[in-house]
Parts: sequence; C-alpha cells; structure tokens
Amino acid sequence: MTEHQLPQGFETLAIHAGQEADPQTGAVVTPIYQVSTYKQDGVGGLRGGYEYSRSANPTRTALEECLAALEGGSRGLAFASGLAAEDTLLRTILKPGDHIVIPNDAYGGTFRLFAKVLTRWGVEFSVANTQDLSTVREALRPNTRAVWVETPSNPLLGITDLAALAEIAHGAGALLVVDNTFASPYLQQPIALGADVVVHSTTKYMGGHSDVVGGALVIAEAGLAEEVAYHQNAMGAVSGPFDAWLVLRGIKTLGVRMDRHSSNAEKVAELLAGHPKVSQVLYPGLPEHPGHDIAAKQMKAFGGMVSFRVNGGEEAAVEVCNRAELFTLGESLGGVESLIEHPGRMTHASVAGSALEVPADLVRVSVGIESIDDLLADLQQALGK
Ligand SMILES: Cc1ncc(COP(=O)(O)O)c(C=O)c1O
Repeated sequence: MTEHQLPQGFETLAIHAGQEADPQTGAVVTPIYQVSTYKQDGVGGLRGGYEYSRSANPTRTALEECLAALEGGSRGLAFASGLAAEDTLLRTILKPGDHIVIPNDAYGGTFRLFAKVLTRWGVEFSVANTQDLSTVREALRPNTRAVWVETPSNPLLGITDLAALAEIAHGAGALLVVDNTFASPYLQQPIALGADVVVHSTTKYMGGHSDVVGGALVIAEAGLAEEVAYHQNAMGAVSGPFDAWLVLRGIKTLGVRMDRHSSNAEKVAELLAGHPKVSQVLYPGLPEHPGHDIAAKQMKAFGGMVSFRVNGGEEAAVEVCNRAELFTLGESLGGVESLIEHPGRMTHASVAGSALEVPADLVRVSVGIESIDDLLADLQQALGK
C-alpha cells in the first residue's frame, strides 16, 4: 500500500489505517502488545521507537493512527475513557483565569467535569444554547479559550451548525471542540467543517459492543497535537493495549453498524411519533426536528439515538423503561444491543438543578442492530399499546 498509493474510502481506512500486517509474523490483525517496557540496544537505542507503554505502545499506536485517518486530523490519541480524554485536553488548553463556553445540552459527566472539577482550578464557564448561535456570541469573553459542543447532543438530540460555530469561535480567537460520540466519524467529520479538536467516548459506537471503556482525541493542527500528546504522557490516562485492541476491532465494522443503527432508529422514531402515549420525539431524522436540515447537510445519516417524552410525567417515563425487555435498561449507548434509560435519574442525574437539567418525562433509547420488528414490538409493549 505504501508503494502504490491507492485512493482509500472510509471503510477501507477503518480496516487498514495504522494496521499493516505484522512485519515479523504476517498476522493480519494488529497484536495486543501486552507489555510495559521494551529492551534497548544500548542506552537510548530504541527498537521501533518504543521505550515504555505509558509513552507509546504499538497496539495503541495502531488505534491512534486509525483514529486520525478516520477523523481527518493530524494526530489521534487514545485514552482510558472519554472523560480522561476530555480532562487531558482541557488541562492542556486551559489555565486558571481562562473561560470556556459549554452547551446547554451535554453528557452529564462532561458538565460535572467543568462544574465540579475545573472551576476548582480557576477555570470559568458559561452555558450557551449552541443551536441558537446568537447565544454563543453573547457568551464569548476576551478570555474565552474554547467553545465546546455536542451534535447530536446527549440526551436531547439537538443539532448545531458546526461550520457556522467554527467561524464564531475562530473569530473570537477560541478553539472549537466537538464531542462526536453520537455521530461517529462515519456519519460526521467535524474537522472538515472547521473543528480544532474532536472528542470521543470510544466506549460507544467506536467500540460498538459494550465491552470496553475508552476515549479519544483527534487534533487538527500538528502544533496543538504535539502539546496534547505531551500531556497524554505527562498525565498518564492512556488506553491499555487490550482496550485499544477492542476499540480497533470495533472500528472495522463501524460503517455497516452505523448504517443499520440509523435505519433502525428512523423506524423507531416513526413508530414513536405516531404513538398516543408519546408527547414528543427528539430525532434529527424527523423532518419536523428543528435541526433536520442542518443534520442532513453535515451528517451522512441521522444516527442511532432517539429520545422521547412520555405523557403522564416522570413516573410514566420510568415505567416505560422498566417494562422494556429487549431494550435493556442500562446506561451507555452505541453497542449492537438496544438500551433504554431515564436520563433524569440515570446518565444525567449530575445536571439536576443546572442549566442543563433534562425533562423528567424523557426516555432515551440507543437503538441497536437487532431485527427491527422485534425492537418495534418491544417498544409497543413497553408503552402499553
Ligand atoms: C457524549 C458523551 N461524551 C463523553 C462521554 C464520557 O465518556 P466515558 O464514559 O467513556 O468516560 C459520554 C459517556 O456517556 C458521552 O455520552
């Protein structure tokens, strides 16, 4: 592949980028280098550049090169979790006295990191509705160093125009950081739209099988990538080799999985939209969704996450979650199996009382890739026909 450079589409990169056959054995799958240290040929004489696995490990390197190729960045970095990736990024780009704009809809743990951890280090934040860009402009300050966004957002499935937001952030001298966990690079590539850094909880669609916790950063510009990589090693929240291998394996089927997640979710959203017990369906694939046109412009399909509000309030929503059977009651998302949860009491309990508080009658489903008729039947019975 190196001698005759062929054009490479997304699915080809997902299977091959960073993953040459093993030079010693010809193994077609990158091995799990379950090792902490490497023999040196004389002091400082490193074979292949590896000295200690916090600094670099060949399985992690394969994943990091693949991530960079898929998101179109200069460098990818793999971490122990999504929050470890976020923390490392934020403590690279922010210092005491800096300000960051965060969205009014985001994963609860991300909000907790800003509100409970970073503020103690003297970092200020403001909350903006990134779907209404005038609120972002109003939130900017002379010391704003970054604008953070999720699109589609967790759990309200809000859509933000990434190209427009990049222009606003850059106009203020700030970086645009996009959490691309819900879309995955198969559906949306924020760096091509102007983002400076892409964040992932690889626990979700990238891993895809609910068997690993991991995180990633992909950085557009080489200088910033160098700084973040320095902090990755200095702070040490790296992905272990087996976890990196599981994510790398999951990524190989990302494209086919996302196609099926998206088509199943479209059918789930249609069923919910016509159901008398449902007061509102939040899914960007529905033409009436306020972000539908922007999503159609910047995403390849609308993804596998659907949220909906249940008539009858919080208890009715909790009951739907409890009655579901094939949709397993549990946190997380993005695996091949369908999950259901009550964000107010589960994934987003940490935003209660804040500007990010979620409606009490909200249910979130991660639509898996099971047979669609079985999924629809389970939701019908959970809602009580
Ligand atoms: C959108 C989003 N970003 C980040 C995270 C944090 O990732 P992790 O749980 O891997 O630390 C999550 C976790 O649910 C998430 O949903």
